[in-house]
Amino acid sequence: MTEPLDPALESLLQQAREAALHSYSPYSGFRVGAALRLATGEIVTGTNVENVSYGLTICAERAALVRAVSQFGPAVRIAAVAVANLNQAASPPCGACRQVLAEFISPDAPVLFPAADGLRAMPFSAILPLAFDMKLK
Ligand code: THU
Repeated sequence: MTEPLDPALESLLQQAREAALHSYSPYSGFRVGAALRLATGEIVTGTNVENVSYGLTICAERAALVRAVSQFGPAVRIAAVAVANLNQAASPPCGACRQVLAEFISPDAPVLFPAADGLRAMPFSAILPLAFDMKLK
């Protein structure tokens, strides 16, 4: 992304970077942080928490989401997401995190993440089109 970042997203990204400092990632060494801006303006962060039983690892995005619901209740709505890692690598949210975010996020909410070609911001609906949903209409 070449154009300057909106200051609110820049600040969200900075909070994601700070959250990544708390990463518990002794198995991968990949330190990820996520910051969610809620519709109420509150910011909630999370980091990845790995486990020796690797499949039990929790990603930064889901850690932040679970924290947001725990702190603010089941009606939380996510207005923006920023993801960062301290490994100078690409880290778009994984598929599982996209599906979990889908439950609480607006389709037009920006999702900011490091891509292979640099920082990218995309509306949520562009990173997870056709999210699974049991509503019949
Ligand atoms: N990870 C995240 O925190 N978020 C993602 O969306 C993808 C992967 C973490 C999980 C694991 O601790 C490490 O990155 C390497 O996969």
